[in-house]
Amino acid sequence: MPGKKQPSRNSERKKPIEQYDHKGKKRANNPPVGLVTPQTDQDRPAKEYAYDPHIDPALQFDSQRSQIERIIDKGLAAEKLEQAKSALSTLRKRQQPYLNWAGKAEHTSFEVPTVSLHVHERIDPRTIIEAVRNRNGNGQPHQGSLFETREENPPLREAIDFYKHPHNWSNRLIAGDSLLVMNSLLEKEGMAGQVQMVYIDPPYGIKYGSNFQPFVNRREVKDGKDEDLTQEPETIRAFRDTWELGIHSFLTYIRDRLLLAKELLNVSGSCFVQISDENVHLVRALMDEVFGVGHFCNLITFQKTGSIASAGLGSTVDYLIWYAKDQSRLKYRQLFLPRKRGDTSLDRYDYIETDENELIKIPASAIRGDDTIPPGRRCRLTTLLSDGDPAEPQPFEFEGELFPLRHGKHWKTDPATGGRNLIRAGRIVRQGKTLWYKRYVDDFPVLPLDDRWESIQIGQELRYAVQTAPLVVQRCILMTTDPGDLVLDPTCGSGTTADVAEQWGRRWITCDTSRVAVTLAKQRLMTAVFDYYKLAHPEEGVGSGFKYRTVPHVMLKSIANNEPPVAETLYDQPSIDNGRARVSGPFTVEAVPAPTVKALSEVTEPDEADDSVARSGETLRQSEWRDVLLGGGVRGKGGQVIEFSRVEPFGGTRWLHADAETKGAKPERVVISFGPEYAPLEQRQVELAWEEARQLSPRPSILLFVYSDIDPEAGKDIGELTPAKTGMTFLSAKIDADVWTKDLKKKARTSPSVWLVGQPDVVLRKIRRGEEQGQWEVEVHGFDYYNTVTGNVESGGADRIALWMLDTDYDGRSLLPRQVFFPMAGQDEGWTRLAKNLKAEIDEELIEAYRGTTSLAFKLGKHNRIAVKIVDDRGIESLKIIPVE
Ligand SMILES: C[S@@+](CC[C@H](N)C(=O)[O-])C[C@H]1O[C@@H](n2cnc3c(N)ncnc32)[C@H](O)[C@@H]1O
Repeated sequence: MPGKKQPSRNSERKKPIEQYDHKGKKRANNPPVGLVTPQTDQDRPAKEYAYDPHIDPALQFDSQRSQIERIIDKGLAAEKLEQAKSALSTLRKRQQPYLNWAGKAEHTSFEVPTVSLHVHERIDPRTIIEAVRNRNGNGQPHQGSLFETREENPPLREAIDFYKHPHNWSNRLIAGDSLLVMNSLLEKEGMAGQVQMVYIDPPYGIKYGSNFQPFVNRREVKDGKDEDLTQEPETIRAFRDTWELGIHSFLTYIRDRLLLAKELLNVSGSCFVQISDENVHLVRALMDEVFGVGHFCNLITFQKTGSIASAGLGSTVDYLIWYAKDQSRLKYRQLFLPRKRGDTSLDRYDYIETDENELIKIPASAIRGDDTIPPGRRCRLTTLLSDGDPAEPQPFEFEGELFPLRHGKHWKTDPATGGRNLIRAGRIVRQGKTLWYKRYVDDFPVLPLDDRWESIQIGQELRYAVQTAPLVVQRCILMTTDPGDLVLDPTCGSGTTADVAEQWGRRWITCDTSRVAVTLAKQRLMTAVFDYYKLAHPEEGVGSGFKYRTVPHVMLKSIANNEPPVAETLYDQPSIDNGRARVSGPFTVEAVPAPTVKALSEVTEPDEADDSVARSGETLRQSEWRDVLLGGGVRGKGGQVIEFSRVEPFGGTRWLHADAETKGAKPERVVISFGPEYAPLEQRQVELAWEEARQLSPRPSILLFVYSDIDPEAGKDIGELTPAKTGMTFLSAKIDADVWTKDLKKKARTSPSVWLVGQPDVVLRKIRRGEEQGQWEVEVHGFDYYNTVTGNVESGGADRIALWMLDTDYDGRSLLPRQVFFPMAGQDEGWTRLAKNLKAEIDEELIEAYRGTTSLAFKLGKHNRIAVKIVDDRGIESLKIIPVE
């Protein structure tokens, strides 16, 4: 076991591990999942968003034309008629072309359910690292985490008063559809106008299958390959909303999200959409509509690959479409690139000044790179004249000769003062009858960044099938935000935006429907190490900005006025404090709660795919799931199957949807509660179904939950409702993803199945021997899973665990992991990079244990209970709470 090491040889290089503090910034106290009940957290009415009919220029044109036509119809005087006709013609000229697609005309408004975002986990990387810190030498334990303060953990009465007692800021990683997330931020949290920058990297509207990565640890995904199709119900739902009608539903999907993103944006904020050449023109037209033509900033081209083999012209770039909320108030920080040899910007510097002050014209062949450029200081000659006549005559005397002005021109600086300074600085050159200003390349050693970004992916290591190069996001963030500003990415993927925002001291919120994506992003953020950028005013936190490197910008004006050159700030080059290391700040992992499954009595019309009603009054989904149960039963481990002699729809109950009887010598009554189709089964449903089941007569022996996905808290509750406590057996079963993806697959298996989900197999034990005697440790053995290849339920070994977390003092509200493990991580993944970067700080043996399935020794906290969350390679989570008597 770890823990008996000699003092580290690196102890003199120890660095404190820091995080940036967003002092003074607050966020809503949205509900911790453990405190959610139907009473404490009530959904608000759905919010309706409507498109302004006048936004459609054609409609606007039509309405104004009919007004003018009315004037004409009224037979007004000829002069009025002419005026009206000319107004009509002006309108026609001003009319903007606009985009139309199938479904647009019907989609003038849409409703979004207003739900709370539930906090499931509070992750503080520094707390997790604390358990593996090198205790030798001078390592000081850090002061308590933000999440352990009283403000974060108020007494129950205050804690359930959601949205009333703001907390200190922590960043947010949210599992759920972007529309629901953004609506919750707007409606429940009042965040309109608080976001400085939105970065959207949607699936590009092409090749659906390859946009969703089904496994945490495998990023090769092929479009159209059945095994690579995601199994996540919410992701399938997102797909159906987005692509089912091809580009038409894609455009509706993007436009709706842009509308909400715009509301969240600050008046000085920016929105970027990343897209490929297939749909760039369509998305730009959409953004014209949502943001207004006048708020377009740039279309940035960035190189995604080097040369590419192709039958025609190879495509090597992707695009960023950039709009401002209000162009006239846009926050913009100019970035600069170092000048490099071979830059095309150098082409115009076509002279060399030799050591003898002789100016030599560089031959075109040398500028092209075919010949070598003669040695010397490179420069160009630029005009000394500006347009417009001078107020007074301005003769310029140089080397005893007077240079009169040409008509309609004046000197850029007064010859008598500024001109003399330029001559003294050796900046004036005469060629024939003309004077020129000599500008050296080194007057400004950097170049302003423009809209063409080359070589952006070089050296890029991918974690996610469709990952963006961090440099792309970095430039967008640095151009449009300051430290402490809030960045939102509603298409999180592997968390590139969050990671880059974290690196640059920005606050961030990001979301994704895919649990695989959320797991990857969580892992990435938890294990990241960054440079510590020096703060402008340390006592004010990161919102005060960084200390940046600057470069002098020598200009004609500064020389003429005898002023020091202007210092340009290099926003991408803050000063680094090498004496400190930095990890991600605290962040919460949240989720959009599942929509409540409707009672049959409430389902009146087929308004949602999930609940379309069959003729019997049962939903189509429920009847299909019932058929699957009747046909194949529920499979268990070792080839066991629970078979049913009947499975019938249930009337008169709200949460129980089917009544069944098992086959066999001793038939047993089973009542069944079905979860939602495209969302996880939630805790609330477990509680309410149990309440109904216990009032039934005769009392059923088994309460079976069948779902497409389950919230880990709900799974934990089912595990805790033992026959000894309830007099009933609670079973939890997952329905095969094939049921709702068969139309998307080339080869659907003939019989989709329902299989029993066991509780995660977790052992808590007291250490009886050695230095850690009396402390505790946990070992995870994995959990059962359904093998889609063999069709059997197998005892999942630990080898399918992508991530597991241990909260050694679970407060029943949300998980605060103190130890986090990545058993599947490869040699360079998981904690490895962090361990390498923080060699002196981290105990190598201890951190090696963070790859395993046995925890480090720990002392129990005051709540006398621990929580273990296990996430498998498909992002499926299960939670186990173990109280200690
Ligand atoms: C192209 S990827 C983003 C990759 C990301 N830029 C990165 O660097 O990893 C698009 C992401 O959007 C997510 N997505 C698609 N539809 C969504 C929706 N309606 N709400 C939230 N996320 C969605 C997908 O699951 C996918 O992870």
